[in-house]
Order: sequence, then structure tokens, then C-alpha cells
Amino acid sequence: MEPLDGMTPKEIVAELDKYIIGQNKAKRAVAIALRNRTRRLRLPEDSRDEIAPKNILMIGPTGVGKTEIARRLAKLCGAPFLKVEATKYTEVGYVGRDVESMVRDLMAVGFTMVKAEMQANLRDEAERRAEEQILDILLPGLRNGAGAAATSQGTSPSFPTGNAPLAVMVPEGETAGRADHTREKFREMLRAGALEERTVEITQQRTGMPSFEVFAGSSNLEDLEMSVANITNMITGGKNKRRSVTVREAREILVAEQLDKLVDQDKIVEEARLRVEQSGIIFLDEIDKIANRGDRGGGQDVSREGVQRDILPIVEGSNVNTKWGVVDTTHILFIAAGAFNVSKPSDLIPELQGRFPLRVELESLSEEDFRRILLEPKNALITQYTQLLSTEGVNLEFDGEAISRMSNLAAEVNSRMENIGARRLHTIMEMLLEDVSFSASELSGQTIKITTSYVDERLKGVVQDQDLSRYIL
Ligand SMILES: Nc1ncnc2c1ncn2[C@@H]1O[C@H](COP(=O)(O)OP(=O)(O)OP(=O)(O)O)[C@@H](O)[C@H]1O
Ligand SMILES: [Mg+2]
Repeated sequence: MEPLDGMTPKEIVAELDKYIIGQNKAKRAVAIALRNRTRRLRLPEDSRDEIAPKNILMIGPTGVGKTEIARRLAKLCGAPFLKVEATKYTEVGYVGRDVESMVRDLMAVGFTMVKAEMQANLRDEAERRAEEQILDILLPGLRNGAGAAATSQGTSPSFPTGNAPLAVMVPEGETAGRADHTREKFREMLRAGALEERTVEITQQRTGMPSFEVFAGSSNLEDLEMSVANITNMITGGKNKRRSVTVREAREILVAEQLDKLVDQDKIVEEARLRVEQSGIIFLDEIDKIANRGDRGGGQDVSREGVQRDILPIVEGSNVNTKWGVVDTTHILFIAAGAFNVSKPSDLIPELQGRFPLRVELESLSEEDFRRILLEPKNALITQYTQLLSTEGVNLEFDGEAISRMSNLAAEVNSRMENIGARRLHTIMEMLLEDVSFSASELSGQTIKITTSYVDERLKGVVQDQDLSRYIL
């Protein structure tokens, strides 16, 4: 399987453009970095190993799209992608090598991804097998066309329409041909959906092999809890459980079971590890929060610097134990991001700074950007609110002027108070539509036109009143 047969940088940027307004430098940088992974994989193995990924540091004020870029990238890049907040590792309970858990988490992402792909290919086969199983259950006397007959009186199989558990008894001495015929009849009914609601009894196999491997690679609390649960499961016995379910549910359960049987666990692990090592991406958000100003002492700082030191070997390339084996992090791409409004990139320990050679700055957003953000992205705020309210039969109509006015107010508040970027649009929007949201059920069937005067009426007073806006917007 070809790991990540990539999009061109242009295509990546075009895809990001659908959600993020502006920030072209950042988009280009991540697009190029992504493409370079694909390029590297096309090289012969010996030169491939020499090429280390160029890790990126995204710097920009709050609310201008850093995290949003990461989020979108994750969805479109097709490579194992993990986003973590660097601050997570300064929390109580995380010590030392727990920073490595980001690699374990990335491997888990890769595993799930590859497993889903492989299972998608096996789905037809699994469904075929599940169908046979359901037929076996529906026709206990007729094992797979063998014609082994049970004792009973009725002649032709009846097709009950009630919801009683179904067991068709076939008269003794019935020929294999006839049994086959019955089975096929049932298969037809099954496929036509006529038996969906019928109750059957299935034996559900307990999966979740107890594993002790978890202990090997980690020391944090979550993993430990998981192992304990596994052991409990082992002691109480991974027994099979009989359940009464509808045919519809039975199919789901059986298909899942068959899929688990059909996929080759080792192959998944092998492919997943390959992808993680060769094209995995870790997005380290809020990295500025673990930078030290250097002028303060105290426990927090020690712990932050500790986290930086712990991250270092992972970024640099080291082997990390996971429950799927050892993962080499040398070629994993790291993208770090931070607002750096209090600290500076130079407040990071020098070794770590050096590991992020590519710096991209994101610009603060202008009034015009705000207008576009309200309107253009696929998940634009205006679209979201319009959709939300339409579920109550309220039809929102924004006129263009009104949107300009909203972005103008957002920019104004941002400049006068704290600049929180596009997040300001969220508060503005909430404030603007509060009344409508509150009484939407009574407004059902109406069209609400949002005009400049509507915006002014709802917002202007608040924006102009310094004290009010400090609390409300
Ligand atoms: N350039 C942009 N285009 C479209 N939407 C944006 C843009 N910038 C920010 N947003 C929206 O604003 C919100 C906050 O953005 P995001 O989470 O990316 O901020 P950030 O840069 O990571 O800030 P912080 O430094 O506070 O983490 C998101 O809902 C996002 O959709
Ligand atoms: Mg962010």
C-alpha cells in the first residue's frame, strides 16, 4: 500500500482555503512540508534516510487560525495526524517520559486508520459470512445446505410474520436439495429486508485480548487503568455471552466480528508503523505556554523546561516503546504553534528552537478578513446560525451591509480592547442573535432580516459603552 500519495501543495492550499481566510504564508509552508514527505518517499532508501523533516513553528496572535489550520490539515492529509497541547504535559500527573505518549497516541491513530482501510476492503466478504451465520441461526436444522434435518411435522417451511423467535423445523428425510431451497428462500427474504425485526439469539464473542504490553511502554494513569480493566476482564473470564437481538443488530455484530477475524493484526501493525514513521505528523499546539521567560523562578518554570527537554529527543528522533512495538520518530513531522504574546520563541530552550527551523508568522485579521470569515468558509458562522435556526422554521437573512457592519464592530472592539482575533465574531454573533435564539420557537415560519439597523440596534450601544463591552463582547 502506498502511504500517502499526496496532493500537490497547490491542492492542499486550495483545500485549506475553503475553511481559512488569509494566512497564505502559513498555508504554503505546511503544504510544502507535507509535499516534501511524499517527495522523500519517492527517493531511493539510502538518500531517503538522510532527509529530515523541516519542522515548522507557527507564530501568530490569538484567534487567527493556527489551531484551525491544524484541524483542517488533519482531515485532509491522509497521514496519521495528532494534535496535542504542549501544556498537557505540565499538568499534575504527567512526568518524564509521559511526553512519549504523544508518539503512542499517534501510533494509535495510525493503527485505527489502517485497520479501517483494511476492513473496508474486507467488508463484502465479512457481510457474506455474516449472512451465512444468520441463516444458520434462522434455520438451525439446516446447516449450510447439508440438509441435516430436525424432527417435526410441518412440510413446507412457513414464513412467520410474528416476532416470535424463529426456528424452522424441517421434516426428517428431507432432501438436501429441498433444504437448499429453503435456505435460499430465507436468503431472499433476508436480503429483501423482510426479517430485519425478527429476534434471534446469537453468541457474542468477547474480544479485547487482555494485554500486559501496556505496562511495558508507559507509566501514566490512564494506561494503567486500562490494564487493570483488562486484567479484571481476564479474571472474570472473557466468556462468550448469549444475547437476544434483532436480525438487524445481529448482522451488525456478526459483521464486526467477522471483520476482526478477517484482518491480519500483524499486517495492520506493520503498515501503521510504516506510515507513522514515514509520514506521521504531530501538531504541538500552545508551545509558547511551555516557554520560559527566564526571569521567574518556581515550580511551574521548572516543569515547563522539563517538558521542553522531554520533547527534545522525540523531535530529534528516538525510539519510543508502544504496545505495537518500537516506533522511530526521526521522520515524523512536527508542527508547533503558539501565540507567543508573553514569551518569545527565543525563550524556548535553544536546542528546541533549533529543531523548528521553519518559522511562519500568521497575521492579525483585518476588518475585511472578518467579513470574509463570516461569509466564505464552508462552516462560516452565518451559515451555521442560519442552519441552526432553520431547524425551528426560522429563516434568517443577512444583508451584505449588515455583515460589513458586524465585521466593522468586531474590528473596533478588538482594537479598543484585547485583540482576540476571529473569536470576537463568535461573541458578536451570539449577542446579535440572542433574542432570535431565545424565542425561535415562537418565530417559526417567519423570515428575520438582519439589516444594518438591526445590527446597530442590538450591538452599537454595547460596543460604544466601554464597560459594557468589556464584559459582554
Ligand atoms: N483565518 C481564519 N479564517 C477562518 N476562520 C478563522 C480564522 N482564524 C480564526 N478563525 C476562527 O476563529 C476561531 C479561533 O481560531 P483558532 O482556534 O485557529 O485560533 P488560534 O490561532 O489557534 O488561537 P490561540 O493562539 O488562542 O490558540 C476558530 O473558530 C476559527 O474557525
Ligand atoms: Mg490555538
